[in-house]
Amino acid sequence: MTIPFQAFMTDAESTRYNSASEALAHPATYLEQGGILYFEHSPFGFSDEDRDFLLNQKQLESPRHKNIAYKPHLDKLTGIDQRAGVDTLRLKAVLKSYSEKTTQFLDEFLSPYRNHRSLDYTSFRPLEEEGRVLRLRARNDLLHVDSFPTRPTYGKRILRVFTNIHPTKVRVWKTSDNFEVLAHRFKGQMRPLSGQLERSDKTSLRQRLSHALGLKQSNQSPYDRWMMDFHNFLKENADFQAQARKATWEFPPHSGWMVYTDMVSHSVLSGQYALEQTFLIDPEAQLLPEKAPIEILKDLYGYPTSTLRTAEHQLPEQIPV
Ligand code: SIN
Ligand code: FE
Repeated sequence: MTIPFQAFMTDAESTRYNSASEALAHPATYLEQGGILYFEHSPFGFSDEDRDFLLNQKQLESPRHKNIAYKPHLDKLTGIDQRAGVDTLRLKAVLKSYSEKTTQFLDEFLSPYRNHRSLDYTSFRPLEEEGRVLRLRARNDLLHVDSFPTRPTYGKRILRVFTNIHPTKVRVWKTSDNFEVLAHRFKGQMRPLSGQLERSDKTSLRQRLSHALGLKQSNQSPYDRWMMDFHNFLKENADFQAQARKATWEFPPHSGWMVYTDMVSHSVLSGQYALEQTFLIDPEAQLLPEKAPIEILKDLYGYPTSTLRTAEHQLPEQIPV
């Protein structure tokens, strides 16, 4: 598919490649090296009627929900403020349509991922990001790499597809060093991965007990725990937040972009009204598999990826190294 795109590399060089003026490699290689793939006109097909409907939705700040989410596999919406009188059926249909269109686009544009991707949540972000009051770990204006507290990925990559639907306002991001650089830099300040595995051991004992009692199990893997800890560590690290190298990117109205947010450290400083679709991509489908965070953690700690991605309650007593 010949859709013009730009690749904004988020390393220290901040190079911008443009497929309209240069012969570029497969777009997935830029993504996998920490690039943001940018489209001046969002190619994820979105009608003016749908945009007008979304712009008219009034949402109030809610301490419980960060965004409105659509869960395609359940065909369910969450995060709606009932006081705002939202037409939930229409909203669901609009988000479902965004989900379908981004999926169609992804399958053609990033065809190596086609049989190796799963659809995660779709989100609508109606609130102004500048000045939002959120818990520190939920703040979007602090640099971080993504990890989902309630949805383990077992090493799958988090690929997110955004569209700025604000009629006039840019959405402003900052990025810093990528996962590989940050994981090496901060390894000494993180709980050792063996600690994650020991905790897994303890958890597995506790989980076996709770399983026997019919209670809920944690299904996180050591990889998911480490990634969640790292997300929190970065947001809580005031020195890092203040001193990290930062590059600023502006996404104008009607533009679209996609990025591996488990790899590119990012924060959003301002902007309102964005749509986003998350995909989980198998690391096996990557053109540069050594860039996947699970491979980087394997090299950093010496545990096989099979151990890192196993749900804790399925790990054996003796952890294979
Ligand atoms: C984030 O993933 O941290 C927020 C990105 C955005 O809403 O623009
Ligand atoms: Fe994020």
